Amino acid sequence: MFIKSDDHETVREWISELSVLQTDLEIRVWPNVDPIEDIDFALVWDPRLGDLARYPNLKCIGSLGAGVDHILKDPGLPEGVPIVRLVDQQLIRAMSEFVLLHVLRYHRQQPQFEAAQRESRWITLPPPNTGETRLGFLGLGELGRDAAIKFRALGFDVAGWSRRLKQIDGISSYSGQDGLAALLERSHYLICLLPLTAETRGIINRRNLALLPTGAFVINCGRGGHVVDEDLLSALDSGHVAGATLDVFHVEPLSSSHPYWRHPRVTVIPHASSLTSARSGAPQMIENIRRVRAGEAPMNQVNRQAGY
Ligand SMILES: NC(=O)c1ccc[n+]([C@@H]2O[C@H](COP(=O)([O-])OP(=O)(O)OC[C@H]3O[C@@H](n4cnc5c(N)ncnc54)[C@H](OP(=O)(O)O)[C@@H]3O)[C@@H](O)[C@H]2O)c1
Repeated sequence: MFIKSDDHETVREWISELSVLQTDLEIRVWPNVDPIEDIDFALVWDPRLGDLARYPNLKCIGSLGAGVDHILKDPGLPEGVPIVRLVDQQLIRAMSEFVLLHVLRYHRQQPQFEAAQRESRWITLPPPNTGETRLGFLGLGELGRDAAIKFRALGFDVAGWSRRLKQIDGISSYSGQDGLAALLERSHYLICLLPLTAETRGIINRRNLALLPTGAFVINCGRGGHVVDEDLLSALDSGHVAGATLDVFHVEPLSSSHPYWRHPRVTVIPHASSLTSARSGAPQMIENIRRVRAGEAPMNQVNRQAGY
């Protein structure tokens, strides 16, 4: 097998965790993968376009993260080779913490209190009504579902939009274009935890933002490509969107000249909401290596057609 990431620390951690679990595993570090005939498993982040088609005996491609857009963007991917992603409980918990933190920060008027403190100003704000506060999740998969359930437990009115309708206790489920419009119209907080696919790219755009109630907040933890930046900025400037917390961007690191950095109603987080840990991710990759070598189907397979 080989591992490919541009981050040396990630590579070091993964090799260390995989090797503890399977001492005889031969791990090469891309680009030192020769002879390529030996490679049966590729564990990658942002592989070079066309590279994955070079390995004649490749049995499986593993993503070093929950998303697979960095793999599927390659038009030259080998046909018929399964792609697997990480489903990491630690990452799921961390993402829910992040979304809880940022929704509650707005909900409990923390920016206003902090601004008042900077001016030594004692202010009184009416307390928010949690039961009447409606949250809309774009994406009710591993990440969206966990966060949605946690907000429901706090008493928020929670809904989610997904490709297939869901049955989750106390959470309203929407799908399709009509469902999207209905979800947007009711959401005081819009939280994006979608994968980036041909269907979801640019979903946070002028038309969809206009459907949100005035004064809504947007939290994007999916991918930068979900947002049409100019449309979000103009919705923020007009006050239609009251605030946005953005963890992901079209180009990362975000350019120092990007208007998000200095926008008074934008919180920029440098893609830090939640990270895959080699410690918690390695066991499922070891199991997948075992499975593909035994001719069994791997876990957490991606549907190439759907794009996630
Ligand atoms: N910011 C970060 O650090 C960070 C960390 C990890 C992941 N992420 C992002 O979060 C994404 C979601 O992760 P996950 O593990 O929750 O993925 P997942 O389990 O595959 O869930 C994806 C959800 O999106 C829904 N969906 C996909 N395409 C759709 C469409 N066209 N219309 C409506 N709903 C659609 C799916 O619907 P169904 O349930 O019907 O399939 C599912 O509910 C990842 O792909 C990645 O981009 C970001």
